[in-house]
Amino acid sequence: MDLRETILGRRSVRDFRDEPLPEGAAGALKEAILWAPSAGNLQARRFWFVTNPGIRRALGACSGQGKVFEAAPLVVVGAADLRIRKTYRSRGTDLYALQDVAAAVQNLLLTAHALGLGAVWIGAFREECVSRVLDLPPHHRPVAMVPVGVPARLPPPPPRVSPDRAFEDVP
Ligand SMILES: Cc1cc2nc3c(=O)[nH]c(=O)nc-3n(C[C@H](O)[C@H](O)[C@H](O)COP(=O)(O)O)c2cc1C
Repeated sequence: MDLRETILGRRSVRDFRDEPLPEGAAGALKEAILWAPSAGNLQARRFWFVTNPGIRRALGACSGQGKVFEAAPLVVVGAADLRIRKTYRSRGTDLYALQDVAAAVQNLLLTAHALGLGAVWIGAFREECVSRVLDLPPHHRPVAMVPVGVPARLPPPPPRVSPDRAFEDVP
């Protein structure tokens, strides 16, 4: 799959087949996460790869979107590492660490799609609930959860705003 095809073909997948991930898939997703850019290359992020069904169910309960967490064989939880404060102060904690996670999540989503897998970025969840379920240390703030699995179907592409609304050309 070339890059444009991967970017345009990726969809948020919320329905999964009752199948495990293929051999090597989790490793490929970890590699994609690891090589995402980050502020000052501090890589102020950490990712939990959760396959345990009970923990997936508990994470789903933190989001109110339980079905997708139970159906996906893998849930990746991305957390910002707030210790970036030492280097970048509030810009580090309030912006860079979140962006570090976001850049890695996009790599994860695109790689999942390129592997023929489906995934969805879940941002709506109670952070303290996720921190409790995974026993996260206080310096890790959960930012995104990504259920990953073999897609049952690829949804049609949702609309995008017009180029006029999205872009300003400054000649
Ligand atoms: C920051 C962020 C938070 C999101 N949170 C959720 C969520 O909580 N639940 C969900 O089903 N989808 C969530 N999504 C996925 C979006 O709904 C989806 O990307 C959007 O509708 C466009 O569809 P597409 O990804 O198929 O292009 C989130 C996406 C982003 C970037």
